[in-house]
Amino acid sequence: MSSPSKPFLRALAGETLTPPPFWLMRQAGRYLPEYRATRAEAGSFLDLCYNSDLACEVTLQPLRRYGFDAAILFSDILVVPDALRQHVAFKEGEGPVLTPIRSAEDLSGLDISGLHDHLAPVYDTVKKLSAAIPKTTALIGFAGAPWTVATYMIEGSGSKDFAKAKTMMFGQPELFARLMDLLVRATGDYLIRQIDNGAEAIQIFDTWAGALPEDMFERWVIGPTRALVERIRAERPGIPVIGFPRGAGILYKRYVTETKVSGVSLDPSVPLDWAAAELQPLCTVQGNLDPLLLVAGGEALDSGIDRILKVLSKGPFIFNLGHGITPPTPPDNVARLAERVKGWKG
Ligand code: CP3
Repeated sequence: MSSPSKPFLRALAGETLTPPPFWLMRQAGRYLPEYRATRAEAGSFLDLCYNSDLACEVTLQPLRRYGFDAAILFSDILVVPDALRQHVAFKEGEGPVLTPIRSAEDLSGLDISGLHDHLAPVYDTVKKLSAAIPKTTALIGFAGAPWTVATYMIEGSGSKDFAKAKTMMFGQPELFARLMDLLVRATGDYLIRQIDNGAEAIQIFDTWAGALPEDMFERWVIGPTRALVERIRAERPGIPVIGFPRGAGILYKRYVTETKVSGVSLDPSVPLDWAAAELQPLCTVQGNLDPLLLVAGGEALDSGIDRILKVLSKGPFIFNLGHGITPPTPPDNVARLAERVKGWKG
């Protein structure tokens, strides 16, 4: 069982803490010189994800510098399609490239039977991390939400408009539903196994949730996330789940109410007063500094941090960014943020 003394887990259980616990999405990554060195040693990005010693090392790097209250497993949301035997590669400067799933035949090439064997190195990383992190630091496991992972599987790369994924969703609803059912099952199996190896909380990344109209948001963002939360609650009670339906706007509220997540991660566009009034009474909120303030630094960074702390630290709150750290971020600005959040007196 997780230790109730870890501030991150106490906040997720509904406590209001001053200062609030904090961590940053993509806290391990290219903005850190030591990450770039380990990454060069590993070979490809996926080689790094599947090397449990090096993945453990890069997870720990930002903790050593900044003393975050949580470590997030170093991996990627696209290891799941890779483990389902879709071809996945990360091309330098291009991002992910996958052999796209566009037909029933493509879908029948996916195979869940080797999921855990393929992901065994990730489970090893979780196990090693759970022994290596400081005693007051919590360990977060994660997966992409089925909708967001499906966009990459169908498009075959990142996309601006999700034309192919949405055309399948609207035009071949049975095919799309079969893909989503497979992802709900695989993602649930994967998360349960992360918990069994030491993950103390789970974050579900639905980066492209904001691309869907209301009815489809209900069905393909809320539906699969609710199924995952219910399964984790039933099979591994006591493990909190944070949802991140990025770009959901006012649908954030319905997402929280209907999925019953323990915490919700807010993107930078969510108004703070609205979040405090409408979301914080329902669950712990996390967020939502614009990651580019961390690139800009200086007074703009300080006042951005203070605005958020003033409004959200009166209730259950975890300080974070509204999306991941970007590569041009100066590490000194992250140190400045850490110092400011840790020094917050309410
Ligand atoms: O937050 C952490 O420190 C944990 C590690 C983590 C990574 N990706 C490492 C990574 C997590 C939680 C993710 C999640 C992820 N991956 C998401 C959801 C969150 C979000 O950022 O929206 C998505 C959509 C992906 C898919 C993905 N992975 C893309 C589109 C890219 C290419 C873009 C880029 O930044 O290069 C990646 C690569 C990736 N994942 C990197 C890292 C550190 C950079 C790879 C490198 O070292 O070259």
